[in-house]
Amino acid sequence: MSDYAARLVNDVAAADDDGVSIRGIWKAFGNENDRTAVVEDINLRIRRGQFVTLIGPSGCGKSTLLRIVAGLIKPDRGSVSIYGETVCHAAASKHIGFVPQTPALLPWRTVIENVKLPLQINKRSSSERDRRSSDPRELLESFGLGGVLNLRPHELSGGMQQRVAIARAFVFDPMILLMDEPFSALDEFAREAQRRGLLELWQSNQKTVLFVTHSVAEAVELSDVIVVMSSQPGRIRTVIPVNLPRPRGNFVENSAAFHLVEAEVRGRLRNTWGQPE
Ligand SMILES: Nc1ncnc2c1ncn2[C@@H]1O[C@H](COP(=O)(O)OP(=O)(O)OP(=O)(O)O)[C@@H](O)[C@H]1O
Ligand SMILES: [Mg+2]
Repeated sequence: MSDYAARLVNDVAAADDDGVSIRGIWKAFGNENDRTAVVEDINLRIRRGQFVTLIGPSGCGKSTLLRIVAGLIKPDRGSVSIYGETVCHAAASKHIGFVPQTPALLPWRTVIENVKLPLQINKRSSSERDRRSSDPRELLESFGLGGVLNLRPHELSGGMQQRVAIARAFVFDPMILLMDEPFSALDEFAREAQRRGLLELWQSNQKTVLFVTHSVAEAVELSDVIVVMSSQPGRIRTVIPVNLPRPRGNFVENSAAFHLVEAEVRGRLRNTWGQPE
């Protein structure tokens, strides 16, 4: 592991009030007699404004980890803090926008009603809400969904449902985005457009992003840091900094430097499956 990567993983305490600190997370599922460890000893620091991507074999615990950071699952050991505040299970942090792996839209609500839902259940004062929230209609239009505002989820394609779930995560203009394979159901061109949109938004709004993907190229194109996980149980295998210039247009994607990082990530991933590097 490089010095930079070691610092990133180990120096978690220093990030207490400036980013996301994931400290000593362990989680197992099952009952008392038959528990299976899913993630073990996860330590990670994400600085404010950083774009960090988790990549690893299916089942290595990426979604579990994201759900722990979002406060949706309680870890058995360890803690997460965001800008110095400890994340409490079942008390969603006001800083977080979460895009789950499956869109999780309410089937009886229309598209616009689904996106309005966080505004309706959130207890913030109206002045804070006005200041921080986006207009759901404009938000959906910016995601190319202006024509389907009054349809219900079953009337949409899988990719459209995914875009509604992304739009919903933005409704409070969150400081931190947790995105679990958000573009997996999109065709190549839509995926490309969404990636570019996300990068523009991230760059202009100083978001902190924890992103999950199975696409190595997507991870390299988007990230400042790629965290490679191994499975059974899920652990951080290595942390790879992506020191490529931004913005990363076609020029960077076709560069030798880009392909070198891609090859390094692929090599590390192959190794997590027990194959030779
Ligand atoms: N609520 C749960 N109860 C029991 N086991 C669970 C639960 N959630 C996840 N698991 C198990 O934990 C392991 C990790 O699941 P998780 O969804 O976090 O993996 P992942 O890395 O996101 O996989 P993928 O890349 O396929 O999305 C899997 O073996 C899964 O079966
Ligand atoms: Mg997953």
